[in-house]
Amino acid sequence: MRSIIITGGAGFIGSHVVRLFVNKYPEYRIINLDKLTYAGNLENLKDVEDKPNYRFVRMDICDFDAFLRLMQEEHVDGIIHLAAESHVDRSIKDPFTFAQTNVMGTLSLLQAARIYWESLPEKYEGKRFYHISTDEVYGALEMTHPEGIEPPFTTTASSESHHLAYGDTFFTEDLKYQPHSPYSAAKASSDHFVRAFHDTYGMPTIVTNCSNNYGPYQFPEKLIPLFINNIRHRKPLPVYGKGENVRDWLYVEDHARAIDLIFHQGRVAETYNIGGFNEWKNIDIIRVLIRTVDRILGRKEDEDMDLITYVTDRAGHDLRYAIDSRKLQRELGWEPSLQFEEGIEKTVRWYLDHQQWMDRITSGEYERYYEDMYKGR
Ligand code: NAD
Ligand code: TYD
Repeated sequence: MRSIIITGGAGFIGSHVVRLFVNKYPEYRIINLDKLTYAGNLENLKDVEDKPNYRFVRMDICDFDAFLRLMQEEHVDGIIHLAAESHVDRSIKDPFTFAQTNVMGTLSLLQAARIYWESLPEKYEGKRFYHISTDEVYGALEMTHPEGIEPPFTTTASSESHHLAYGDTFFTEDLKYQPHSPYSAAKASSDHFVRAFHDTYGMPTIVTNCSNNYGPYQFPEKLIPLFINNIRHRKPLPVYGKGENVRDWLYVEDHARAIDLIFHQGRVAETYNIGGFNEWKNIDIIRVLIRTVDRILGRKEDEDMDLITYVTDRAGHDLRYAIDSRKLQRELGWEPSLQFEEGIEKTVRWYLDHQQWMDRITSGEYERYYEDMYKGR
């Protein structure tokens, strides 16, 4: 029997991790701890909420006393920490909330876990604090390319197999941290605290840094769900700058599988980068989304291309992210399971089939519902 707290389980990635653990490990007790900010939505977990090995606790990760009490009450031996403020554009408008949640919240969990685990006879034996972070802490990569070859070009530089890349440098685990946005600066700081708790107190920690995720249940302020919804409703698609920025996209269930593997088999005090070997310019993804939505809805080919609207670039917009995840492949045998075309098709169909989920979020109805439900708690 293991008792595991998953923080941020009502969010996008967290809900996939909770679902995977609840279904795959009926012998574990899975506690989903989430504050239910604007980004947290329990509808994401309707299919597991009645399972006997699942419990939801509404809590702020900054609430040190409450978290310590929960650890003692549930005899927690594992923490998978995903709760965070996660949207770069919001961090530009309101950096304080990002420092509070991502830095102070993480520190609060670490300190409570330390006090509880150090009070036990076995101390840190069999315990694990697994912190989920982002590739954005490494900053931005250049679009460098071998002479005479125009990007994207085929390379094996960051994976065992051939894949397309927009540059010949990649994020490896030993790279210096160079965050640019308040979001990535706060995540970088939290990563440092996690490692400090290993080095100072001997806490068994692991950190992973993952590339951009896509798939069902992503809050529609992020590029892919926002644009699918806008195309459906024929609303403008605000493309920052020239749409030339490159991101490395990974299907969210592949990330959840990696988290499962690393939580159980990853080496303590290590960092693993997780990515899809799947670099895309924003504008190319946007064209794929338009074609896919239009095809599924039976509209004329390319009918909605004129929704593309170039707008002022994001401040400090990182040019290119690309992950080298060979360490994870080599040590634990993980690989992404879905081709991007397959993942995008599944994703677009999911959002089009779950219009009610989308409407409840975009109307704010779901937030009001939680406010009523948890009033005074
Ligand atoms: P999300 O914004 O969809 O979900 C975040 C969740 O955390 C929400 O349920 C929210 O209610 C909860 N939360 C926020 N503040 C809280 C607080 N103070 N106390 C308790 N709960 C709180 O985020 P996501 O995209 O699922 O990302 C999850 C984690 O993965 C984050 O740590 C993020 O940095 C990291 N990550 C995300 C991506 C990505 O592409 N989405 C990529 C790499 C890493
Ligand atoms: P986003 O989904 O916010 O993820 P991140 O900033 O963490 O990579 O954005 C993905 C890319 O899409 C990023 O380069 C910014 C760009 N973008 C737009 O061009 N328009 C938009 O409306 C949004 C939300 C993002």
